[in-house]
Amino acid sequence: MLNKRILVTGGTGYIGSHTIVELQAKGFEVVVIDSLQNSHADVLNRVAQISGIKPKFYHFDLCDKIALQHFFEEEPNIHAVIHFAALKAVGESVEQPLLYYRNNMLSLINLLEMMQLFNVQHLVFSSSCTVYGQPDNLPVSELAPLKEPESPYGKTKQMAEKLLADVVVASPLKVVSLRYFNPIGAHDSALIGELPIGTPNNLVPMITQTAAGIREKLLVFGNDYNTPDGSCIRDYIHVVDIAKAHVVAIERLIHSHTKSSYEVFNLGTGHGFSVLETIKTFEKVAAQKLNYEITSRRSGDVEQVFADTSLANDELGWKAERNLENMLSTAWNWQKKLSELSIK
Ligand code: UD1
Repeated sequence: MLNKRILVTGGTGYIGSHTIVELQAKGFEVVVIDSLQNSHADVLNRVAQISGIKPKFYHFDLCDKIALQHFFEEEPNIHAVIHFAALKAVGESVEQPLLYYRNNMLSLINLLEMMQLFNVQHLVFSSSCTVYGQPDNLPVSELAPLKEPESPYGKTKQMAEKLLADVVVASPLKVVSLRYFNPIGAHDSALIGELPIGTPNNLVPMITQTAAGIREKLLVFGNDYNTPDGSCIRDYIHVVDIAKAHVVAIERLIHSHTKSSYEVFNLGTGHGFSVLETIKTFEKVAAQKLNYEITSRRSGDVEQVFADTSLANDELGWKAERNLENMLSTAWNWQKKLSELSIK
């Protein structure tokens, strides 16, 4: 397996950086493309501190097709691609839909065209449970009908999956789409983690920033849902578990173990936790009280969603290993480390 070269787009981002570390641990050579719109190149130095290897880095936007063509000319021996690069802020996508459709769809189309031109036939695509909308049945399996996502961001993920399913029919391309539930947590080293720019949208960065005194309080969006404690339920999953699933998906593609040209897997733990349970667990692992207040529902939130993970467990032989305590304590360690690293 040594020296198989993997292109990781969006490799300086949250899930991308953790995936690079896991790929390197399995002997893969990683090449990164990133526009650095939402991340810092310095992340790769910290990846190198963990793995001992700094991946080769190309700084450009995948919407620039000429730059992408030059990349493939310079890097001829790419065996597979993991495509993380995308915009992912739900609220921003509602305000700027054209930006989201242009960026997320054009970058994917450019990538697929260049992969075809340079005969690269394996792709792992970064999808999301947002493609299910509010599912009728829980836990939600890959066979559930895809409902209308709430945001342009969610729609780009659903459109991308449909596009990929069409492209594999007309080409030798093989694709594994991974539908992430709610990735949280950070690497055990606390050298890499989630780096939200500005005010975070997601629950766990809001919790850790509130605990660190960066935010005054956490707002809990609704306690009148039809759930045991009234707050929303999500399937939180450790980012390192997610990263490991990408390595398994890459190996499956490279060893031709896929059962069809387009495969989809849920990546979750299969367990749902409410917002209030998550706060309580955080308070326990951080040994401190969190300043929070119940407020009204956030528009676009689904009441509850958690994964049926049996397909990923049985077919990929992958299972999430880390529990909520570990997810939150690594997220908290990362938050504390951030001020030391003086990363904003
Ligand atoms: C969000 C996106 C989803 C995307 C995912 C990527 C929305 C509606 N959905 O998922 O499409 O794939 O991020 O990470 O934004 N909460 C609070 N207070 C906060 C923040 C969140 O109570 O300050 C609650 C939310 O109401 C929700 C839960 O925490 O019930 C999780 O929220 P979040 O972390 O934003 O994730 P999702 O909304 O599930």
